[in-house]
Amino acid sequence: MSLDDLYREVILDHYKNPRNKRPGPEGALTSTLNNPLCGDEITVFARVEDGKVTEVTYQGQGCSISQASASMLTEAVGGTEVEEAGELARKFRGMMAGEVDPSEDEFGDLIALKGVVKYPIRIKCAVLAWDVLQEALRGEGSAAGGASH
Ligand code: FES
Repeated sequence: MSLDDLYREVILDHYKNPRNKRPGPEGALTSTLNNPLCGDEITVFARVEDGKVTEVTYQGQGCSISQASASMLTEAVGGTEVEEAGELARKFRGMMAGEVDPSEDEFGDLIALKGVVKYPIRIKCAVLAWDVLQEALRGEGSAAGGASH
């Protein structure tokens, strides 16, 4: 199996078996954005306590790349410091711009999205969840009312 095939499988696995796809806990910071090119939408919920992102969840619908990226984001960012989350977002954008070549150790499953660089129209798909996360962490979204509605 080529590396491209392996990466494709990792993306499809996150798309078909999304991690942390559920409404966020009450009080979580949240934001929603859509990709203007297609209308696909992602909402990210981030619970922040003492400068740490203790839990990240998402909801949304869209293409496999956007949804897999959101699923991977929740795993990569959950449990990090807010500053680390920002740094990871910066590096992810760098990877999508073809400027950063992160190691698998550092990036985990996110590395599977590296090949998206070859398809400029899909880069927005991969970055969408990260835009939403950063907006939520900046407090530009709103606070979640909880999972009960
Ligand atoms: Fe809509 Fe990818 S085609 S986010």
